[in-house]
Amino acid sequence: MSLTLDLTGRRALVTGAGQGVGAGIAGLLARAGARVMINDLVADRAEQQAAELRASGGDAVAAPFDVTDFDQVTESIADLDGVDILINNAGNAGGDSWPGMVNFAESDPADWDRFLGVNLYGVMNATRAALPTMIEHGWGRVVTIISDSARIGEPKMAAYAAAKAGAAGLMRAISKEVGRHGITANSISLGTMRTPLTEASWEGLDEQQAAARLKGYPVRRPGLPDDVAGLVGYLVSPGASWITGQTIPLNGGYSVAQ
Ligand SMILES: NC(=O)c1ccc[n+]([C@@H]2O[C@H](COP(=O)([O-])OP(=O)(O)OC[C@H]3O[C@@H](n4cnc5c(N)ncnc54)[C@H](O)[C@@H]3O)[C@@H](O)[C@H]2O)c1
Repeated sequence: MSLTLDLTGRRALVTGAGQGVGAGIAGLLARAGARVMINDLVADRAEQQAAELRASGGDAVAAPFDVTDFDQVTESIADLDGVDILINNAGNAGGDSWPGMVNFAESDPADWDRFLGVNLYGVMNATRAALPTMIEHGWGRVVTIISDSARIGEPKMAAYAAAKAGAAGLMRAISKEVGRHGITANSISLGTMRTPLTEASWEGLDEQQAAARLKGYPVRRPGLPDDVAGLVGYLVSPGASWITGQTIPLNGGYSVAQ
């Protein structure tokens, strides 16, 4: 077995890859030789990321669509002629803003839809659309990005946690349906990250405030997109064919500290 990742000939779709974690994952897959489809709700972001990857020698195309819309997802994946590797990364509140952090007892049901739409239905839509070609080809990899707020539970993020936990449950269930077709399905559960979405909240912190925020993280820094790309690279590699249905914590040791 080789530790070098060679994805030549594979077609990968990364949702929400216009920035942040998704862009980091897409970069690694492109460097490994995959043809990478850069999805994002914001078309300019998808185009720009794809152009940057092409400029550095990768094979990348923009695939702007809304993962919450099943018809758009299905049509786009059909246009792309199927995918071998699906990374369900689009998430958070389904846009660039986050509804206020509230206790569930005070939450507004109208806000739940945003979380369920992107973090659960988005994952169901893309996975449903991608699996038939993977089954036909007898090989596939599905990796879904979830959050420790779902795996462990965090206050004031209940709807987000419920949606992410649902996505992890979906991965577990389908792993049992499609394993015999050479397809694996896993989730990666992230701790606190530094990405464009959270950048403003990190920038304002002095050393003491940052340390307080990272209390509970033995590795005293937030996660970065490259940290996630490394684990995704392993999970989509040929050598990872015996790991499926798992939710893998990736969080600088936060679970250890619980
Ligand atoms: N940032 C964190 O601290 C953190 C922590 C744990 C888990 N996560 C998860 O990691 C993943 C990536 O987070 P990030 O911080 O890089 O996010 P980000 O907000 O920086 O980037 C996400 C991208 O997804 C796109 N997107 C949003 N809704 C979409 C939709 N409906 N269809 C297509 N694209 C859509 C956005 O336009 C954006 O470009 C998410 O699933 C998030 O829930 C993030």
